[in-house]
Amino acid sequence: MSTKRVLVAYGTKHGATAGIAEQIGKTLREDGLDAVVLGGSLYAGHWSSKAKHCAERNAESLRHRPVWMFSSGPLDRSAEEDDIPPVSAVAREMQLIGAREHMTFGGSITAHTPGFLAKALLHEGKGGDFRNPERIQNWAHHISAELVAA
Ligand SMILES: Cc1cc2nc3c(=O)[nH]c(=O)nc-3n(C[C@H](O)[C@H](O)[C@H](O)COP(=O)(O)O)c2cc1C
Repeated sequence: MSTKRVLVAYGTKHGATAGIAEQIGKTLREDGLDAVVLGGSLYAGHWSSKAKHCAERNAESLRHRPVWMFSSGPLDRSAEEDDIPPVSAVAREMQLIGAREHMTFGGSITAHTPGFLAKALLHEGKGGDFRNPERIQNWAHHISAELVAA
């Protein structure tokens, strides 16, 4: 029996990105394939510094593996309506490690999200959970399909 490994790493502040990463990991495991997927949340136009440092620390080994990246952010349906390109720092990391593709998923802030700014956004009616499970799963299956084709 062959051993297939999936590494899904992520940088999160309040857990919304973890939920996306878990779903990607579960779907890839079910498909039984190898991949590295690195995701991070967006704050004030910046990708998670933890995800960024992870990419930089492991650049050498990631360069030799198939890598996909994602961002979690928009608190509306915009990520479903258009392909939102990676912010410039993510585009640089992708180039550094030769990552295959990037996807932006809707993010989430709810009444349980800590922090003054999250509360302020909710107060302005900008909150909600915009992570779309179907879109996340489809992307993970797309990764599997690319790996099978390779
Ligand atoms: C203070 C604050 C700033 C944010 N800035 C952005 C942003 O610049 N771009 C974006 O797409 N989403 C932004 N968001 C939305 C977050 O990226 C979204 O809630 C994300 O899912 C959070 O993931 P996490 O819980 O894993 O940290 C912001 C949210 C907060 C609370």
